[in-house]
Amino acid sequence: MAVILLENPQPKQREFMLLTNRYVAYGGARGGGKSWAVRAKCVIMCIEHSGLRCVIIRKTYKDLNNNHIEPLKAVLREMLQEKKVKYNAETHTFTFWNGSTIECAYCATRSDLEHFQGIEYDIIVLDEATQHTYEVFQALTACLRGREHLPKRIYLTCNPGHVGHEWVKRLFVDREFLPDEDPDDYAFVRALATDNAFNGKDYMKMLNQLSEPLRSAWRDGKWDIFVGQYFPEWDLEAISVPAFEIPEHWIVSMSIDYGLDGFAPIWYATDEKGTDYIIREYSAKDTIIKDAARLIKEIESDLGLDGRRIRRYAPPDLWNRKSDTGMSTIDIFNKFDLRFIKADNDRITGWLAVKERISDGSLKVFEGRANQLSYCMRLLQHDEVRINDVAKDPHEITHLPDSLRYFCIMRSKSAKPKTRQTSENIVSRRGAVRAPKVAVKVNVSSLKGGW
Ligand SMILES: Nc1ncnc2c1ncn2[C@@H]1O[C@H](COP(=O)(O)OP(=O)(O)OP(=O)(O)O)[C@@H](O)[C@H]1O
Ligand SMILES: [Mg+2]
Repeated sequence: MAVILLENPQPKQREFMLLTNRYVAYGGARGGGKSWAVRAKCVIMCIEHSGLRCVIIRKTYKDLNNNHIEPLKAVLREMLQEKKVKYNAETHTFTFWNGSTIECAYCATRSDLEHFQGIEYDIIVLDEATQHTYEVFQALTACLRGREHLPKRIYLTCNPGHVGHEWVKRLFVDREFLPDEDPDDYAFVRALATDNAFNGKDYMKMLNQLSEPLRSAWRDGKWDIFVGQYFPEWDLEAISVPAFEIPEHWIVSMSIDYGLDGFAPIWYATDEKGTDYIIREYSAKDTIIKDAARLIKEIESDLGLDGRRIRRYAPPDLWNRKSDTGMSTIDIFNKFDLRFIKADNDRITGWLAVKERISDGSLKVFEGRANQLSYCMRLLQHDEVRINDVAKDPHEITHLPDSLRYFCIMRSKSAKPKTRQTSENIVSRRGAVRAPKVAVKVNVSSLKGGW
């Protein structure tokens, strides 16, 4: 008779597997036995309940195959041989004799996420949840429904760091809940590398030899550091100032990132000392150029910038001509009287310019005017290969920071902003200071009799 070849859970894994809250996270150290535990949990639940629908989600198919599909095939080997469990290689789904299923699915992009729309699951496992944004978690919670007599749960495994660090930490480690979140729905088991007796000596040695802060995160499962964050210096509170009216003589600029997947303009005002204030941001997707142009004008009118000269920066690819129309994105913006300066798209120099402006205090934000940008800046990660670059994934959080990068790199190129013509300070085009054309105040009494 075929048997399921499942080993016994270790104590921490048992603790995790017995929890029945709606959202259970198993997180912390690397190699703690987390993926094993969620996989085993799915198998046991599929045996216990007929018709249970489970899904195990990883970011890529390769991760999914190595961490779950192959190990599941090993655990279910005899069952598969006797056809008590069937595996569909197209849908990556194991179907048990009682109708229960474990589907293995990947989710790396927004369009992958769309595949889950309208699908119902009883058990959702988000393995390596910190590799996903809160948006992914929220979208998956909407899939948690179906026949009422079956349990409905989301199991997450997580290591500190990555793009999902903040939302996982908030819900499961810090337990800071929003009014519509019920604390009883959330449970957390902290994993340590030492929990897993199957970690060899070499693996533990590798963890011990890691430099900080990786060691604290990966060996000890500490959440107070955010490994991989590209802009740890970004602190919205520290750089926010109450909004004020922009003096007439200040320079006003804007930068955009533009594509159908993201339209991200940011407006700035620069004072005499060269400090830039972000005065407004906007972000949307699926915005055609005509609508983007209209939105720019509406926002500028709203900001009271009508009639002011605005320096506009855009990435070089917007000058590329489309083969069908022979026109570039910039040509179309020009039609709407919006002219742009081609920004330098050297990514690493650009990110450094952003870092410099944050660190030297020359970038400020009008309170409440750049919340979306701030959210993205906190989440941006180092690229795993080009370590000095920002990861391009998840793509949706890169548009506003890219827009800021185009502005900062161009600002750092023009050493000091040319001050606008004012009655006090007029700078000629060549940079020489000319005498101001203003009425000179004359002490009339000093003229008396002198002429
Ligand atoms: N109860 C168990 N019985 C047998 N082997 C186990 C058990 N728990 C974990 N292992 C093994 O220990 C190793 C590490 O476990 P696992 O991959 O689940 O850790 P993890 O916490 O998910 O690691 P990572 O942080 O790298 O994702 C794997 O080879 C796994 O099969
Ligand atoms: Mg794992």
